[in-house]
Amino acid sequence: MYFNWRYRNPDPYHVSVSNYERDKMERVMASLGFEKRFGSILEIGCGEGNMTVRLASIADRVLATDISDMAVRRTRQAASLFSNVEAQRLDLLSDEAPGRHDLVVASEVLYYFEKHQLPDVHERMTACVKKGGCVALIHARALADDEQGVELKKFGARTIHEMFIGDPRYSVVHDDIQPAYRMTVLRRVA
Ligand SMILES: C[S@@+](CC[C@H](N)C(=O)[O-])C[C@H]1O[C@@H](n2cnc3c(N)ncnc32)[C@H](O)[C@@H]1O
Repeated sequence: MYFNWRYRNPDPYHVSVSNYERDKMERVMASLGFEKRFGSILEIGCGEGNMTVRLASIADRVLATDISDMAVRRTRQAASLFSNVEAQRLDLLSDEAPGRHDLVVASEVLYYFEKHQLPDVHERMTACVKKGGCVALIHARALADDEQGVELKKFGARTIHEMFIGDPRYSVVHDDIQPAYRMTVLRRVA
């Protein structure tokens, strides 16, 4: 499987050593500060758990999921000191929704899907959000669909985030457009 191959060596996306990723993480955590504490957080595509361990401090429970068992194993190790974190394998596109949560986080994940799969992905994520709960999307901006960003082939934050922004079941809580990435937090209102 492609993502297990990607994780054959630790930190394939250089998340733990990049200043850019560190700054992004701080902005993401600050922007989630509008809620004192979340009951339950579902993280989609948790990678090696870099964000999982931060989310653990703002929630009663975190369910970290990834399509790669290698990534899930590393997340379990990274979060081994947190009794409120569980990590499990989940393919967002084919596995059953793992319950409803107060916050669903997808960071740098959704551009791995094909464009025609996005409506299904959107519905699957929405099925995991409690009414009144939130979705946090963090994705690179891509030149393929934005005036600025990186050279992702298909699409980036604009296509992904605007799909949620245009859905009347959500209202935007926070939309932070940085030169290289965008972070959007939405509340499910219906
Ligand atoms: C670029 S990494 C991002 C990791 C982490 N969220 C971050 O922001 O650093 C993308 C992650 O999405 C996961 N992923 C890709 N397709 C997925 C799917 N269909 N279901 C769940 N996770 C998926 C990959 O295994 C990988 O860990």
